[in-house]
Amino acid sequence: MKINVKNRVDWVGKVDWDLRKFHGNEYSTHKGSSYNSYLIREEKNVLIDTVWKPYAKEFVQNLSSEIDLEKIDFVIANHAEIDHSGALPELMKHIPDTPIYCTANGVKSLKGHYHQDWNFKTVTTGDTLDLGNGKQLIFVEMKMLHWPDSMACYMTGDNILFSNDAFGQHLATEHLFNDRVDQAELFVECIKYYANILTPFSSLVEKKIHEILALKLPIDIIAPSHGVVWRDNPAQIVEKYLAWSTAYQENQITIMYDTMWDGTRIMAENIARGIKQQDSDVTLKLFNISKSDKNDVITEVFKSKMVLVGSPTIGKGITSGTAGILEEIEGMRFKDKSAAAFGCYGWSGESVKKISEWLSKAGFTVVNDGIKCLWNPDEAAQAACVDFGASLCQ
Ligand code: FEO
Repeated sequence: MKINVKNRVDWVGKVDWDLRKFHGNEYSTHKGSSYNSYLIREEKNVLIDTVWKPYAKEFVQNLSSEIDLEKIDFVIANHAEIDHSGALPELMKHIPDTPIYCTANGVKSLKGHYHQDWNFKTVTTGDTLDLGNGKQLIFVEMKMLHWPDSMACYMTGDNILFSNDAFGQHLATEHLFNDRVDQAELFVECIKYYANILTPFSSLVEKKIHEILALKLPIDIIAPSHGVVWRDNPAQIVEKYLAWSTAYQENQITIMYDTMWDGTRIMAENIARGIKQQDSDVTLKLFNISKSDKNDVITEVFKSKMVLVGSPTIGKGITSGTAGILEEIEGMRFKDKSAAAFGCYGWSGESVKKISEWLSKAGFTVVNDGIKCLWNPDEAAQAACVDFGASLCQ
């Protein structure tokens, strides 16, 4: 199967409708994903990226129905992570001497994954590869977006930016192009992808986008390695990335909690009531951490100006669910967000202090000492939670 992208450029990847977890179990993919591989057939034939390992045989079989594999002049490995390089071992069995173009870090990574001494050609930003017919590929290193080896390449003449992971989304669709899919569904997956994968590298994202824009290359199409190809107003996703990369927040407060006997949930709901009484405009979202998808929660944290985290005290600490999301949040290195903690306890009550310390370590501005409640909240304790919520908006 192939889908024409433009002129002599075809998509030859794999749509993975089956996928529900990615990066092991670290990222939920409610809508599946795709591994986008592109075949350019100018005077030179070039394959850009492959697919995830489970689909390697199917990919190579499909590719060989499109082109005699021996006629592929160059393979481009924009990124060595397994979802894009996983079919290389199967492909290179057929064409072991074909050059693979990648960054120096790409060579290290590909050798580390596959222990093969393929015919690597290393490239850096500004290097070019002639395709014939007056067209070229120009390479742009994308270091730490999101791996050390990440790279993009730009095809002159057709004005296509093959951006690899950047501007992608985990979305399986039979319609390859951004103008053909449900826009709400598309942008939910875009922001989730940015929030969960690119947030730690936001300063680099902003810098790299400005670097690419300064080249003043006409970009008609952005063709990432997951999800849709941006052919309708591709600048729209670039503008989103610029907004998301600069300490993004909406007028939203997210309250996340874990609860054992409902006390911390009751606290959460009364804090929410207090916030709403004080500020009827703010978007308020509550999540039971242990029952919610962690990547969806991270996306809501990304959109928030303030985050409230609650846990009962258990064994002088916090619940494992709370610890899990805090570990995740710490890794995201969010900027310019405030936070506070809350929780019930039965005797010693360490959870609030522990959460506050963790939030502070994660880069949040912790606005107060939090609120804790001995036993299940009675009327007075619930009223104190309402007051606590209201105080956060003053
Ligand atoms: Fe889609 Fe970083 O791999």
